[in-house]
Amino acid sequence: MKYTRSDFPKDFLFGVATSAYQIEGHAQGGAGKTHWDSFAASPGNVVRNENGDLACDHLNRFPQDFDLVRDAGFDSYRFSTSWARVLPEGRGPVNQAGLDYYDRLADALLERGIRPCATLYHWELPSPLADLGGWRNRDIASWFADFTEVIMGRIGDRMYSVAPINEPWCVSWLSHFEGHHAPGMRDIRATARAMHHVLLAHGRAIEAMRGLGMSNLGAVFNLEWAEPADDSPDAGKAADLYDGIYNRFFLGGVFKKAYPQNVLDGLEAHLPSGWQDDFDTIGAPVDWCGLNYYTRKLIAPADTAWPSLEEVPGPLPKTQMGWEIEPDALTRFLTRTMHDFTGDLPIYVTENGMASPERQQDDDRIDYLNKHLGAVQNALDDGVPVRGYFIWSLLDNYEWSFGYEKRFGLVDVDFDTLERTPKASYNALKSALSGGPVSLPMAQPAGTMHEHWNLVADIGGTNTRLGVISNGQLTDLRKYPTGSLQELLDAFHSLRDEIGTDPRAVVAAGAGPVKDGTIRLTNAHLDLSESDIGKATGAQHTFVINDFTAAAWSVAEITGDHVEVLQGAETPPVGTRLVVGPGTGLGVGALLYSQGRYHTASGEGGHVGLSPRHEDEVEVFKAARHIAPECFFDDSLVLEAEMFLSGTGIPILHQAASMAAGQTDAPRRSAKDILQDALAESDPIAVKTAHMFKTHLGAIMGDLAVAYMPTGGVFLVGGVAEKNRWLFKDAFRDAFNAGGRFSDLRRSMSLYVSEQDEFGIVGANNFCKSALAR
Ligand code: FCB
Repeated sequence: MKYTRSDFPKDFLFGVATSAYQIEGHAQGGAGKTHWDSFAASPGNVVRNENGDLACDHLNRFPQDFDLVRDAGFDSYRFSTSWARVLPEGRGPVNQAGLDYYDRLADALLERGIRPCATLYHWELPSPLADLGGWRNRDIASWFADFTEVIMGRIGDRMYSVAPINEPWCVSWLSHFEGHHAPGMRDIRATARAMHHVLLAHGRAIEAMRGLGMSNLGAVFNLEWAEPADDSPDAGKAADLYDGIYNRFFLGGVFKKAYPQNVLDGLEAHLPSGWQDDFDTIGAPVDWCGLNYYTRKLIAPADTAWPSLEEVPGPLPKTQMGWEIEPDALTRFLTRTMHDFTGDLPIYVTENGMASPERQQDDDRIDYLNKHLGAVQNALDDGVPVRGYFIWSLLDNYEWSFGYEKRFGLVDVDFDTLERTPKASYNALKSALSGGPVSLPMAQPAGTMHEHWNLVADIGGTNTRLGVISNGQLTDLRKYPTGSLQELLDAFHSLRDEIGTDPRAVVAAGAGPVKDGTIRLTNAHLDLSESDIGKATGAQHTFVINDFTAAAWSVAEITGDHVEVLQGAETPPVGTRLVVGPGTGLGVGALLYSQGRYHTASGEGGHVGLSPRHEDEVEVFKAARHIAPECFFDDSLVLEAEMFLSGTGIPILHQAASMAAGQTDAPRRSAKDILQDALAESDPIAVKTAHMFKTHLGAIMGDLAVAYMPTGGVFLVGGVAEKNRWLFKDAFRDAFNAGGRFSDLRRSMSLYVSEQDEFGIVGANNFCKSALAR
């Protein structure tokens, strides 16, 4: 090599770059299908229909590959994480083997003294997300932010640097306008949307990583210098538009919060509405800018639809790709990026290299690298803060639509035996790079990263409990007086301040109906909205739910260890579940099971009718009518069930039973005392009250069960049921099963008392997990 490490500034980083789909072997290790798999399987898209199924088998050979990186003296290694390897469906369930792989990969780099530089997305979009429109769908920004949290939540602490997206131009224009890459579209509306959404996703991922406490985050753009094919004004205009589309659109979005006007002239009509409002996210501050540079293009006007331009062959020497070699344009790009976009921000050349058919003595590559390192030197001389240079690529690999034919590696790969053999360029670099290592840190500063957390709230009329959820588990629970809306929001806010970071999501459960993102808290007499919670906590996702939606969710992950079995299976089967809680009122919720997932419809508990089951109960119901006539259905003897069948109802039931027994001035006793006397059999009216309570509750639960067909079990939840388990024995079960022609059906159902403390908090947490997974 013409240059050595000592020709560059102190701590200039030398690295090599790769990407997941191009080297790992995507068919292995439980990764989900991606749009590159189906693109490659469709005739005409890829040379010889080749795909990334095995590629370089890096998945199994990374330790040996990293030995090569270390032995050449590289300071850093730029790799990408495969979204579908981590989340096979793109959202929801994690492929643990995939996460473990990246975890081992990070450790393997650090053990060898190599700085891990991650790119979150290098083009293999999970197929289920492609089915939903992929980059055309605005939701991809949220899906991507969620993926970012999952993968960086696991390996982020060991990353030196991270960039969300490799080459937004390729993700959008090349893939949706030119059709050369997956998904192979040629549609301007799809393109415009993809161009905007890819930047939005970039911004959301940056925000998500800041939320995890991460630093040294950047963006990676591929730039191609556009040279007018001749001196005509039209060629100048065409080249300027090419430059706008290829280079300035993406740099402009991130660093100027604006798109170039000449691009908007043709594209604005196709951008998603409201695109102007996204620039605060798109332009979230980054710590560095990465440029991938390979070539320049000669551009001429063309008689086609917008953008009405074409590439024409140029006279310069070319690589195996047919790309002209033009190192000066790299200098121009580095200088222009500093002047027009990034100022003092560190710039890295994140990819540069060439394809060559020469598998051993690749002097052409050595020459190419020398020239481009010279171009970097020139930019440094001009005062551009270039801080590193990454060669594409470590290994010969899957060069997208060119299959395995184009070889970019410093190390040759025999795709039959997968044997690696360093080329002359590798050895030349090895001598040039001796004299390291640089003194920069290896990874994120220790202790700066924190797990992301969620906040769940159970809001009662008097007290509110706020729970801190880390890694899906409740780690802290606080009690606050509910108070006014402001006091409640202050409690949220103070917990957020104490933890020091915004929660990712907040779920607040309370008694009352939910409408348009606001819950009317009937006990606390206030209206709480999702946007208020968002403002108080900074959470990205906020939900208000009815307390019986939460109760239903409390049994979503319940196991045999957390139930008392009254009848049926020892371990609650998977399936629709019915939840009944006699507390302040009589809560009824259902967790519906379909398509492998639980769902709930936000409900408002049970307001079913209750009528006498025996002749001798008629007097009790009549007496109750004196106590609370408004709770009866018209002039019938049918009353709202929760008037008797709840913690607040038991005293009324007892009073009515006393009146029916001739005690005209019976006092109202507490539910606790009544049930104590019933258990001790010291007061016959209390015994009768308890009997009516359990048999009516059993019967109602049996009726509801027939309506819901809860193959996943029927559950009693909450403190009243838990503290009085003696109530739920034979008489209760018999009442549940007494169903006329439906008795057998009722007997076939599993029936449990849930023994979970804090079921509201547990339920809000389960709801949260499920909502985020969606
Ligand atoms: C870049 C890509 C990389 C590889 C090189 C040759 O645009 O980032 O995956 O294909 O080109």
